[in-house]
Amino acid sequence: MAKIKVNTSTKKGKISKYIYGQFAEHLGRCIYEGIYVGEDSDIPNINGMRCDVVSALRELEIPVLRWPGGCFADDYHWRDGIGPKDKRPYMVNTNWGNVVENNHFGTHEFFELVEQLGTEPYICGNVGSGTVQEMRDWVEYMTFGGDSPLANERRKNGHDKPWKLKFFGVGNENWGCGGWMRPEYYADEYRRFSTFIRNYGDEPMYKIVGGPDRTDTNWMEVMMQEPVKNAGGVSLHNYTFTKDWGNKGSSTSDDVSDYYSLINNALEMDKTIKMHEEIMDRYDPDKEKGLIVDEWGNWFDVMPGTNPGFLYQQNTIRDAICGMITLHIFQNHCDRVYMANIAQMVNVLQAMILTEGEKMVKTPTYYLFKMMKKHMDSELLDIEFDNLTHTKDGVTIPKLSVNASEKSGEYLVTMCNTSLDDDEEIVLELDTDIRVASAVCMSANSISDYNEFDKDEAVCPKEIAVSVDKNTVKFTLPKMSVCAISIK
Ligand code: AHR
Repeated sequence: MAKIKVNTSTKKGKISKYIYGQFAEHLGRCIYEGIYVGEDSDIPNINGMRCDVVSALRELEIPVLRWPGGCFADDYHWRDGIGPKDKRPYMVNTNWGNVVENNHFGTHEFFELVEQLGTEPYICGNVGSGTVQEMRDWVEYMTFGGDSPLANERRKNGHDKPWKLKFFGVGNENWGCGGWMRPEYYADEYRRFSTFIRNYGDEPMYKIVGGPDRTDTNWMEVMMQEPVKNAGGVSLHNYTFTKDWGNKGSSTSDDVSDYYSLINNALEMDKTIKMHEEIMDRYDPDKEKGLIVDEWGNWFDVMPGTNPGFLYQQNTIRDAICGMITLHIFQNHCDRVYMANIAQMVNVLQAMILTEGEKMVKTPTYYLFKMMKKHMDSELLDIEFDNLTHTKDGVTIPKLSVNASEKSGEYLVTMCNTSLDDDEEIVLELDTDIRVASAVCMSANSISDYNEFDKDEAVCPKEIAVSVDKNTVKFTLPKMSVCAISIK
């Protein structure tokens, strides 16, 4: 039995809705096939965007979408992706399988997608192989409402009004695929490029400094010294592997030690954030600058028989459990983590949606985001609970991960049970009376179960029974599950 106490009067900060952001790159079948099929496709679409995928994603109320990469961003030249499609030049997507990119999905198509999803755009600019002028012109093309050659070119291409664009990333992984730069060199490049990212709209642009990989604290230190001064925040990329980069493991592994190792690695996100927070706090004690974890998620070996450059993997209850642990960590650091973008939205890495031709499935990670979406823009609440643990092959992991939040007098408590063997009786106590409570849980028969095309879903949320008595809710938290308890 585990007792969880929620102190509703002790608020710990606002959970930025942007923590539930997504990322879509020109990589594998994420954009093409997964989202954009073109106006002439037999797959039902609106202006080229798949109706089934867009309609499923709309239910997640995605707050922000990062595009066009990733590594692709520092190889992308926006002018190739505007104007009549049959005149757009082709290019080779050298980062991702050397496939030919026809540029049919460009700036106008991205904003069309943003509109159809009801989300906000976050564009990542090209520092690695682009020019300052190219970046400044792109911003003017997108956001200037007056009479200028670039704004008029946008009009000629079919969009009269300027688009609203708040988030702009100045390069991606410039320590690696974005130019293999030293931090000091990138810092200078950031200062030059960012000077020319003008504010044409009503709101100042929230510029994002290209941040470190995982635990590279030196990179963060350099970015906090100068570049961050004219920026909204600094990015961080941190993926979770079964063991490590060289041993990513299978996305459908049912090996128990793989499971423990994976969960243990997901928990590392907390230490990584603390490491960077310590540096950010020294330079920015008032916490005005955001930590933008704009790439995170589980990264496994590609599914056998698929293109190694396409990063296509399956998605099981393990992904949902890791996802909840990670989102809880972000929420626990909500005074610093302003945005996070899971990689990636469709068909790549820890995706929400997988497609095969005209077929589509919602993954366990999709359902996780749906179950947790009410945390967006709510107040994080103080909680206390028993620190139960379990151990396998010398790896000890906590049994529970729990978060609680409040918005407009309604409470959402999300929790997972990492045990593969034992259900847990939960006594959830609030310091206020409860009128109604309900719970949905997602579990599976095996840790390697996933949702298959043309079959009933093996992993999806189901309502479970709860009993309410004054200020207490009792229920059974199933083994290897993620649950969301809504309370009024
Ligand atoms: O998300 C896949 C890739 O991972 C991105 O393109 C890159 O930024 C990161 O290394």
